[in-house]
Amino acid sequence: MATLSLCLLLILVEACQADDTRPEQIHLAYTGTSSERIVNYVTQSTDEGLGTMVAYGTDPDRLSLKAIGDSFVYDIPLWHKDPEISAIYNVSKADPRQFSIHNVKLTGLQPNTKYYYKVGDVNQTMSDTFSFSTKENNIIYAVYGDMGYSNAVSLPQLVQEARDGHFQAVIHVGDLAYDFYQKDADTGDNFMNAIQPVATLVPYMALPGNHEHRFNFSHYKNRFSNMKLGPGATSGSDTSLWYSFNVGLIHFVAFDTEVFNYFSDVGQIQRQLNWLEADLAKANTNRDKRPWIVSLAHKSKSEEQKCNYLMIWIDFMDETNFTHISPLLHKYGVDIHFCGHSHNYQRHYPYYQDEVDRPDKKNVYVNPKFMTVIVAGSAGSKEKISHGLGPKRHLAKYIFDYGFGHLQVMNHTHLRWTWENTGVELASIEQDELWIVQDNHGMRSHA
Ligand SMILES: *[C@@H]1O[C@H](CO)[C@@H](O)[C@H](O)[C@H]1NC(C)=O
Ligand SMILES: *[C@@H]1O[C@H](CO)[C@@H](O)[C@H](O)[C@H]1NC(C)=O
Ligand SMILES: *[C@@H]1O[C@H](CO)[C@@H](O)[C@H](O)[C@H]1NC(C)=O
Ligand SMILES: *[C@@H]1O[C@H](CO)[C@@H](O)[C@H](O)[C@H]1NC(C)=O
Ligand SMILES: *[C@@H]1O[C@H](CO)[C@@H](O)[C@H](O)[C@H]1NC(C)=O
Repeated sequence: MATLSLCLLLILVEACQADDTRPEQIHLAYTGTSSERIVNYVTQSTDEGLGTMVAYGTDPDRLSLKAIGDSFVYDIPLWHKDPEISAIYNVSKADPRQFSIHNVKLTGLQPNTKYYYKVGDVNQTMSDTFSFSTKENNIIYAVYGDMGYSNAVSLPQLVQEARDGHFQAVIHVGDLAYDFYQKDADTGDNFMNAIQPVATLVPYMALPGNHEHRFNFSHYKNRFSNMKLGPGATSGSDTSLWYSFNVGLIHFVAFDTEVFNYFSDVGQIQRQLNWLEADLAKANTNRDKRPWIVSLAHKSKSEEQKCNYLMIWIDFMDETNFTHISPLLHKYGVDIHFCGHSHNYQRHYPYYQDEVDRPDKKNVYVNPKFMTVIVAGSAGSKEKISHGLGPKRHLAKYIFDYGFGHLQVMNHTHLRWTWENTGVELASIEQDELWIVQDNHGMRSHA
């Protein structure tokens, strides 16, 4: 009782509120310009006067550079107004929660340099000091989809590997938190704080999956507004739902497979297609310099779907529509596509429509005629492992366990992909390795 009244008293002198201004959920992203990074974070305080700043420098004891950003107040959508939700849950809290989302773009960064940084308001609470590197050659990317706050089986290993420098960027191909909006958005906050040890060290590039769809993807669009302000702005998409970015020898292009099912309108579908084609056409004018094109989305094409290898009726990649996307990825010579959605690991042989390009060696695709599809949808979520697989005739390898992969482009001709399980229940180590050797990057005329 005494403690409580002391605190109430202290609130009057603003001391108890200090924690509200403490930055949390801090995460970095590439913008697509190598001398830039964009930092996003949250404060529970929505005080209009609260500053948005990154103090940074190459000496951890002297963060002499300052970058000022912008913030906005995010009104969490009233979840009980979603009829689907109010039918299931007894909603007790009627008041909407709010918090502030801050974005700061760092520009003019030197290449191959380690920067230290803190975020926040210098007159309130600054974060701890973190660091990131601007190295952009021989980057290893951790790639996975479908990781939530609970049962995030791969997270401890991701944190460890980020600290040990085993990868320098993360690509999370949709389905985050499970779900951001739940428990009055505490699930979203908890997830963003759980990935912070990774996302403060390396760019954390996210894209939308079906689990983000509530309230028209509101949580994703706001919490990852740095995707819109970073690569979205650089690539002219002006949205966090689809965007592209260049790093080293790779042009990454991320697109939204959920646009067909949730809140879609013809305008949005067509806008994405127009942007995608223009983006891929532009990337092809620069392939001498940046030969690899990697596409990212929550789901994959599935020309034949809904039958797994045992001929059991299973949705492999349900509720999307690649009718117009697939020919674009083919024509503009996308080398490899990463997705999640199925909560397992799958590597496919290069294929397009009815044709499968079977390699001589199972793990080395030499000058493949078609794009390669990888499903890495089992980083770990409360939905556990699922068994939906693509058609057997182009399935090179599958693993029903938790895990994530590593992508590395060695040079103009060689790409290496590995996947390893992180499932603790299994004593055995399950791995996959693929090399793509491509001497002829570029547009495809075939089929
Ligand atoms: C909803 O929860 C409140 C508080 O826990 C309880 O009093 C009320 O009876 C519940 N209503 C329904 C419809 O379950
Ligand atoms: C911090 O407070 C000082 C003194 O009130 C003020 O001059 C300065 O502008 C403030 N800095 C920021 C970043 O708000
Ligand atoms: C959902 O948001 C997108 C922009 O992200 C917008 O184009 C679309 O019209 C919205 N849909 C609805 C039904 O509000
Ligand atoms: C798939 O999307 C295209 C627009 O890109 C549309 O014309 C077509 O009707 C859709 N097909 C299905 C099966 O919904
Ligand atoms: C590209 O990388 C591969 C694998 O590391 C290597 O064998 C090959 O010699 C490299 N090619 C060039 C031109 O350096």
